[in-house]
Amino acid sequence: MARDWVPDTAFGRWFLSTDMWLQRVLARAIADLKQLAGTNAPDSFNRLMDVGCGQGRVFSLLQKTFSPRQIVGVDIDPHLLERAAQAARQCGCPVELKRSSVTRLDLPDAYIDVIFCHQLIHHVANQEGALRELHRVLAPGGMLLLAESCEAFIKTWLVRLLFRHPRGVQKPAEGYLDLVRAAGFVFADADVRIWTPWWSLPDLGFTRKLGLVRRPPVATELLVVARKAPG
Ligand SMILES: C[S@@+](CC[C@H](N)C(=O)[O-])C[C@H]1O[C@@H](n2cnc3c(N)ncnc32)[C@H](O)[C@@H]1O
Repeated sequence: MARDWVPDTAFGRWFLSTDMWLQRVLARAIADLKQLAGTNAPDSFNRLMDVGCGQGRVFSLLQKTFSPRQIVGVDIDPHLLERAAQAARQCGCPVELKRSSVTRLDLPDAYIDVIFCHQLIHHVANQEGALRELHRVLAPGGMLLLAESCEAFIKTWLVRLLFRHPRGVQKPAEGYLDLVRAAGFVFADADVRIWTPWWSLPDLGFTRKLGLVRRPPVATELLVVARKAPG
């Protein structure tokens, strides 16, 4: 597993436990993905996997938003999974936790109906292998809800200073979309949102607010709702 894992900094672990991350980033991504999925989101299904679930901060929100009968939380970090076990006890549906790399999921083929994958892929060196595994464990017709940070954000000096990632594997939005397509998922242009939130700008958007920078910002964040073709 060590090969698949670059442990984050103490700051990174702390930041992901803040309310700012929960409200401004995680909850916002769930709301945006739900909106992007629109009427294609299944009303009733068995298993939602939160892959790279970390501390399990959104198990309850995922349950309320998508109403799965069960959540499967997967992460490679055993310490984060201990905290996720506490979050699992507060959730309105059963939560199964697994310690596993996304590149070698300890799950049967076609076991999952919906995958929520939030800010995981840019942490993984073998991104092709990760997407291949997500496709394998998803049931035919199942849905992948993916939110990723693009290289323009991960390569900023502030992110490099404060967080740890594998070097040189992050991609622009189009690169991630190619990866998702190459793994066998299908999606249309309307299933994609590429944007630049204020928190991903190197100066948190101050120079733009002051009118000092006018050129359009480079895209830093990607949301995509993709499907595994029905069998
Ligand atoms: C930026 S955090 C995102 C956590 C959570 N999804 C969130 O948004 O709060 C990335 C997570 O991916 C996990 N991770 C890193 N490499 C992994 C791998 N190869 N397989 C599974 N999880 C991994 C880390 O332990 C961490 O919890």
